[in-house]
Order: sequence, then structure tokens, then C-alpha cells
Amino acid sequence: MTIETLDVGARAILTANDRGGYTVPNGRVYPFQWNWDSAFVALGFDTWDRDRAWKEVETLFNAQWDDGFLPHIVFWQDDPGYFPGPSVWATGKTPVTSGITQPPVAATVVRKLWDSAIAADADDAYRLRLESLFDKLIAWHRWFRDYRDPDGRGVVVAMHPWETGRDNSPEWDIPGEPIDISNVGEYVRRDTGHLDAKMRPTKLEYDRYLALVQYGVAQGWDHAKITAGNPFKVADIGMSMILLRANRDLLHLADYLGRDEEAAEIRAMIATAEAGIDWLWDEEKHSWCSRDLLTGRSSGFITSASFLSFYAGLADPAKDAAMLAHLHRIGSKVEYLMPSLDPEDPGFQMIRYWRGPVWAVVNYMIGTGLAEAGFDAEAARVRHDTLALMERNGFYEAYSPVDGSGSGGDDFSWTAAIWLAWR
Ligand code: DGY
Repeated sequence: MTIETLDVGARAILTANDRGGYTVPNGRVYPFQWNWDSAFVALGFDTWDRDRAWKEVETLFNAQWDDGFLPHIVFWQDDPGYFPGPSVWATGKTPVTSGITQPPVAATVVRKLWDSAIAADADDAYRLRLESLFDKLIAWHRWFRDYRDPDGRGVVVAMHPWETGRDNSPEWDIPGEPIDISNVGEYVRRDTGHLDAKMRPTKLEYDRYLALVQYGVAQGWDHAKITAGNPFKVADIGMSMILLRANRDLLHLADYLGRDEEAAEIRAMIATAEAGIDWLWDEEKHSWCSRDLLTGRSSGFITSASFLSFYAGLADPAKDAAMLAHLHRIGSKVEYLMPSLDPEDPGFQMIRYWRGPVWAVVNYMIGTGLAEAGFDAEAARVRHDTLALMERNGFYEAYSPVDGSGSGGDDFSWTAAIWLAWR
């Protein structure tokens, strides 16, 4: 397929999944607005429709709660094809939303949209929109500081595996054990009605997901209560790196807008993260790893999120060298980087969601970080592998790192968006 054909196909996916101001990740499997999906989708729209790109992010932030929280799903309209739907979340908000968040990539995306507007001499027309988004972004980042870092360590503590975006990563297996699933009750999954169960999380994992949702409902989705008593609290390496990066981009915007007070506040958040992030370095594995806040134990899993240290701008020569060594080792074992789990891990499964498959959005962040850090050959490999997967197989939710076959939903919005933004 030629680049032009792929461009046309990618745009057609975003257009078909556009519900008017927001884009569904995939019409059948995920029929609502998802938080980080939308942010990446905006990068795709920005390659041909700037206004629509900004609108995507603005629509998402229209669902922000008063405390700064930005939900992981916004249920703009009902759809019986998805479970757990609005009545299960029962957050009592308008629009109806879920009660957990997702990786905070939005500030980095907004900075990209702004840079692109400047390059096209369109910044005057977007400045007020930027000011308004800036206020919402910083409110969300403050919410992370106040409700997702209970010990003030400068990391992001996930209160639900879905918050990390890497739903069924083995990083959550042991920390998930204390979750009481005895009262979850009967329910019918919809994901396995659309997709092969072999590509999806297990029943045990789903029981835990629902038990945590029920816990949030029982707390009336009061974030202070959840922060204090949640049975699952894992310092996620992915969200911690992503928030650090997002704060650097937000600081850039604050400086641009002359928001000195906010800039000082963001600098303080960055300093706390830079000072605290080493807690997530696993000396035994020589890798960045998620760590259970409740037991203090490192997960010991090397996942694609471990490689987001470059994107976070950490620039620690010894740790960078260790991560590059892992990248080369993993790259010699699989056809396509970056598998969501180390292929030498006994739990590696090439098509099961976040236990093996390659995700274009994660690769985009890893590749961007590597390029910025000057690791050109590694950056080129990650980008090349990502684009090759799409050229050979189309725009799937994820791909097998072994043979490149598509995994999960097809015609997937964020994959198409990454093609447009990165090719
Ligand atoms: C799902 O339902 O699989 C989603 O990933 C939750 O956000």
C-alpha cells in the first residue's frame, strides 16, 4: 500500500469514528469518548483539520469535574454494547462519566497542537482557546498531585488498573490480590462478545476491575476517601513518566502565556517528580518498574512503559544505558518493537492485550523520547516497526510483536491518528 492510500484510510477511520466533537476509539468495542485516546486522536486530526483537533480535546475537558479530575470515559450518549456502562459507574455527573482517570498525555498533545498552530501562523486565532485549556490542564495536574500521590513521592499512584491504560499488565497481578471479589455478583461482559477472549483480560481480572468500581461507588466517588482507603494502590511507571513529561510541556505553555505563578507551581511539581522517581528504579532488574505503594514491592516487570523514561526527559546516563541494553535484547527477540511485556518473561503472550502486543501510541511516546534524547538508531527502529505494522496489517488496536498480526479491535482511531502524525 502506498503512503497516500494509508493516509486516506487513516482519515476515513477518524471520520467514521467521529461522533461530532469527539471520536470513539472503535465503534463496536468502545462506543464512547476515552480520555487518552482522544488526546492522541487530536494529533491525527491536526494533520488536516486544526479546528477539529482542538475541538476533540475541548470536548473531553467539557466533562472535567469541579475538583480538576478528568474521567477516563465520557458517556456522551448511551450504548448497550459496552460494559460497565453509566449505570454501573453511577458517578451522578452530567455528562455521565466514569470515576477514574487515565494517563495524562493531554498537556503534551496541546503543546503539540499549539506549536503546529504557530508554525502555520494560526496562533492568534487559537490563543484564547489555549488559555482556556491551560487552566483546565493545570487543574487536572493539581488533582494528580493531590489525589494520586498520597505520600507526596512525586509519582502517580493508580487506584485502578484501567487508570494506567495498560489494563491487564502483569504489574497489577500481585497488588490486585487483596481486592475482595466475593461480592462482585453476576455480570455479562461485552468485550468478549466483540473480540476473541484470548485477546482480552481474564475473568479474575475483570472481577477485580468491577470490585474496584464498586468500591468507588461506595465512597460516592469522593477522591479523598478513595485515596485514603483504596485496596489497590500502585505507583505506575507509565503514568509517572507521562505526568512528568506533561508537566514539562505545561511549563513551556505557562512561560509562553506569561503565567508566572502557575509556572512556579509546575516547576515545583517537576522538581518533586525528578527527586522522587528513582523510587521506581528496580536495582535487581536494572529497569524502571511499577511499585506497589501498599507493600513497597517492585513489580519487577519490564514493560513497554519502562521505556518512557526517555519521553520523561530523565537523561540519567547509567539508567539510560541499562534501558538501551534492554531495548537491544528485546529487539533481538521480536520482529516488532516494543512488546508490552518483556518477551523473555514467562507470562509473555503475543496477542493478549497488555501482556505482549505492541501498541502504536506507546511506541510513539517511546520513539519520540528516544529521538529527543539523541538515541537516533533506536528511535528509528521503534518508528520503523510501528509504521511497518500498519502498512502490512492495517490500523488495529494492537499487534503481535512476533508476527505482526492485528490484536483487538480493527479500524482503531488512535492507531490511525499515530500513522497520520508520525509517518
Ligand atoms: C475496557 O473496557 O477494556 C477499557 O480498557 C476500560 O477503559
